[in-house]
Amino acid sequence: MKKIIEKAVETHSLSRDELIALLTDKDYTDELLQAADAVRKKYVGDEIHLRGLIEFSNYCKNNCLYCGLRRDNKELERYRIDIPTILTLAEHAKNMGLKTVVLQSGEDMHFTTERMVEIIKGIKALGLALTLSIGEKSLEEYAAYRQAGADRFLIRIETTDKKLYEDNDPGMSWEARAQCMRDLKKLGFELGSGCLVGLPNQTTESLADDILFFKEMSCDMIGIGPFIPHPKTPLKDAKGGMLDLSLKVMALTRLILPEINIPATTAMETLAPNGQARALCGGANVIMPNITMTDYRKHYQLYPGKTTTGYTPDESLERVIKKIESLGRTVGKDCGQSKKWLREQQSK
Ligand code: 5AD
Ligand code: SF4
Repeated sequence: MKKIIEKAVETHSLSRDELIALLTDKDYTDELLQAADAVRKKYVGDEIHLRGLIEFSNYCKNNCLYCGLRRDNKELERYRIDIPTILTLAEHAKNMGLKTVVLQSGEDMHFTTERMVEIIKGIKALGLALTLSIGEKSLEEYAAYRQAGADRFLIRIETTDKKLYEDNDPGMSWEARAQCMRDLKKLGFELGSGCLVGLPNQTTESLADDILFFKEMSCDMIGIGPFIPHPKTPLKDAKGGMLDLSLKVMALTRLILPEINIPATTAMETLAPNGQARALCGGANVIMPNITMTDYRKHYQLYPGKTTTGYTPDESLERVIKKIESLGRTVGKDCGQSKKWLREQQSK
């Protein structure tokens, strides 16, 4: 195992079998996270970049088996934040010193291209970097967002196991999702993706494929989250909750893609009070403090127990900054573009 880790640190390239060996192993987790931490330090430094997360609508037309926002969850109280309020939240983010906001929602048809363009322009006028995380759209829609000034887009592939994907996301096509990623990259977005770890019937082999896929698609950001069963979904009795395996997938992603941005995800923190701290010491360099108004947060329930639920935007940010300082790291001073994306732009 030590040899494979050393190879990853030196070459940033591992075979599928080597990835599987490290994912299966239980004894070298700490060594793997430490190696990812060293590679993180060498390539992207000690700064942790903050992204203010605005969960602006919990309506979703899709029905993913694992997700609390799925359309068949009739017990969820749905909300949409109106455009002026979204812009006020973004302005508050700016006043708190944040340099990037992430707009996230379910796939909500209310937010037409026209409405999204209005929001994007409003946020860009504040001088903030903007990431969208609003699901599958046509190339034309993505182009309109890009033209309006959106910088980055997050769309997790969730799993590269096509059958597992299509079993879990009824009515959705894996190929269509991969096409969205190619379209976004072509349009010049910084492309964010990622996967869930611990879905029922997910294999270690497919997790290795996920990591190789992130490289093949030239992703600029990767968010890895443990699957956490939600009581109002068909997967309510599933096992889930695989924090160590999620951290290993994340660490291996850092080793293979040294210059990208990797968030310490909220789902990791939900499973253990030190989940995000472990991630930040195992390859992660981004945190996304939630800056949605407190009243709405409890309804943005992708999975239960989200740790950020009870706080105000200011409290969330304060908690994150304390965590960063307690680890001896610093808060990023600029908007923290992906080093990989910047290098690609320069060589164009
Ligand atoms: N557990 C963990 N993550 C989840 N997501 C959706 N449902 C769950 C769950 N039960 C993640 C998906 C999606 C992101 C917004 O939230 O990966 O892409
Ligand atoms: Fe909708 Fe995304 Fe949840 Fe699927 S994972 S139901 S697309 S919010």
